[in-house]
Amino acid sequence: MIEPIKKIVFPVAGLGTRFLPATKAIPKEMLPVLDKPLIQYAVEEALEAGIDQIMLVTGRNKQVMEDHFDHAFELEKILDEKGKSEALAISKSMLLPEGSIQYVRQMQPKGLGHAIWCARHFVNGSPFAVALPDDLILGKPGTLKQMVEAYEKVGGNMVATMDVAREKTSSYGVITPGKRSGKLIEIKGLVEKPAPETAPSTEAVVGRYILQSEVMEHLSAKQIGAGGEIQLTDAMAKLIGSQPFHALNFDGERFDCGSKVGWLMANISMAAQDPSTKSRIKELTQNW
Ligand code: UTP
Repeated sequence: MIEPIKKIVFPVAGLGTRFLPATKAIPKEMLPVLDKPLIQYAVEEALEAGIDQIMLVTGRNKQVMEDHFDHAFELEKILDEKGKSEALAISKSMLLPEGSIQYVRQMQPKGLGHAIWCARHFVNGSPFAVALPDDLILGKPGTLKQMVEAYEKVGGNMVATMDVAREKTSSYGVITPGKRSGKLIEIKGLVEKPAPETAPSTEAVVGRYILQSEVMEHLSAKQIGAGGEIQLTDAMAKLIGSQPFHALNFDGERFDCGSKVGWLMANISMAAQDPSTKSRIKELTQNW
């Protein structure tokens, strides 16, 4: 029997050094694309996929995300008094049923794998999803929904992948592909940040995962990997062979909003589609 995915972990404890000084006091997950912070896009994508038990693995200077998913009483009162019903509804749109979002602190940023391990009591033996909010993926349906639908057929573990230029492999986890069936690719191996000459393929993992809870056992070994960090990829690689493991070459456009250029591209792309901004963006880009 394939157990449904109801839980998701958002690791948001990273330092965001590529985006300093903006991220000195503001979490990078709160950077807006158009008018919404990155974390909100990620939570909305999870809800669209039917995943409604949420864990944020936070760190120092990240408390503002808790406020984002809570009442803002003063703001709500003023908007109500002024009859600004549209703004009030937007302000309240991220109020999920009480108890839906939990928070745990990763006390030191020891890597993505360590952040996921910090959520082990929340996961508590269930299969779960992971999404990195700084990987903004625009797609219809969202990538998590695409993955959940594929998972319901094949079970096991799954990562979202996209084909990248060979010279870029050292920025990603990369799979050794097996049998392909449409968008699904069987995974025979996984390696973190391989050099272009040694990369087993150009099929690169982006920040969406569905994992079986056994990954926690491997993470608890706290093995140090690429970049001196505890890598999720290394723990996932240990599951290959004992459980089904697939890549889903998702439909959608991915922006690495942890980098300046990715975040700018995401903003321009969204603004070029949004009815309130698109004509101005068209005018502006015509002169470039
Ligand atoms: P990144 O590789 O983007 O690292 O992390 P970072 O520290 O956030 O950013 P840079 O590279 O310094 O600019 C990928 C994801 O893993 C989380 C991040 O918050 C991000 O969602 N992460 C990373 C943690 O939660 N804890 C860590 O120790 C490391």
